[in-house]
Parts: sequence; C-alpha cells; structure tokens
Amino acid sequence: MEKVKRTGLQNDIAKVLVSEEELRSKVKELGRVLSGEYRGKDPIFVCVMKGSVHFFSDLVREFDDYCEVDFLSCSSYGDGTVNTGVVRINKDLDMNIMGRHVIIVEDIMDSGVTLDHLTKLLAAREPESLKVVTLLDKPERRRCAIQPDYCGFIVPDEFVVGYGLDYAQLYRNLPFVGVLKPELVEK
Ligand code: IMP
Ligand code: MG
Repeated sequence: MEKVKRTGLQNDIAKVLVSEEELRSKVKELGRVLSGEYRGKDPIFVCVMKGSVHFFSDLVREFDDYCEVDFLSCSSYGDGTVNTGVVRINKDLDMNIMGRHVIIVEDIMDSGVTLDHLTKLLAAREPESLKVVTLLDKPERRRCAIQPDYCGFIVPDEFVVGYGLDYAQLYRNLPFVGVLKPELVEK
C-alpha cells in the first residue's frame, strides 16, 4: 500500500509543470477551436471523473454554443502510479448518445488503456461522432494505438498532480499541474 509522507500541500511539490496562467490560456484556445468545430451540433461533453473535473468545467464554459454535459467514472489505477490494465466503469453515462456528437474530456493520456477502452465502449453506442480532448499527454508511455484528437500539453514521463490529477486521491485541488517530490512516494 503506497501513501504520501506529507510535508504540506505546496511543499510536497518539486516543481510546477503547467502554471495557472498557462492552463487558462490553453483552455481558452481549446474552447475556441471546439466552438468552431461543433457550432450548431449540440455536442455532449463527457467528463471522465474525477481527474478531468476542473479541465471539464473550465472548458465547457469556453464553449460558445449550445451543448450538453454528462459524467462517467472509471478507474484503471489503484492508489499508486502504475496502470493495472484493468478498466472498471464505476458510473456510466446517463444520456443516450446514439446519433449525437460526443467529446470525451480527459485529464491525461498515459498508457492509453483507459481511453482505448472508453472509446470502444462509447463507439458501440453509435454516436454521430466521437472525439477525445485531453489536457495532458505523455506519448512516450503509450501502449495502445489511440491518439487524442485535441491535446493541451505534452508532458514528460513524470507523475504529475494538481488541477484535478491526484496521487492517492490527494492534490486534486492544486490550481496548477506539478510534479510530486519523489521521496514522498512510499512504495
Ligand atoms: P492510461 O489508461 O494509462 O492512459 O491512464 C489514464 C488515467 O491514469 C488518467 O485518466 C489519470 O487518471 C491516470 N494518470 C495517468 N498518469 C497520471 C499522472 O501522471 N498523474 C495522475 N494521474 C495519472
Ligand atoms: Mg482520468
């Protein structure tokens, strides 16, 4: 069982990878792009909980046309940093997405196992279109062929937290994306 040797919320962070200002301007940019692409299409934005909660909420507020939102919860990780390869749906969508334009909003793509599973699951429900927007991408770590349709930032192969991303369920409330001090992670 892994846990964090806490030294204080801010002090646990080794470095800031993406600042609040960088997040704000990137989300605005993605919102502009999506507003152009999906104008008049009444898309459904799907929030993949819990990690994309802040990104999702900021992004949909930058979408400048009618849209709907829905929520899905799945887990592919335990409390640690290694993907178990098993994706479990904890809460499915409420809406019927058949014939609709669907945009999956993810916090980070790592091995790609989660999104590979989710896109296959949702594609089987016959949406009109299905795309993925991820805030962060770690392409070096990919184990599946899947690529995001829209991506905020490419990040190095480091475990990152903040702006929704957690380590052992902590740090989701940090307003930036940062790297945890490695000595805090107990194996
Ligand atoms: P994948 O299935 O390996 O692509 O992992 C996707 C999920 O793992 C993400 O939605 C995150 O919840 C989690 N994850 C992957 N890398 C990180 C990280 O660096 N920090 C926090 N969570 C991560
Ligand atoms: Mg996630």
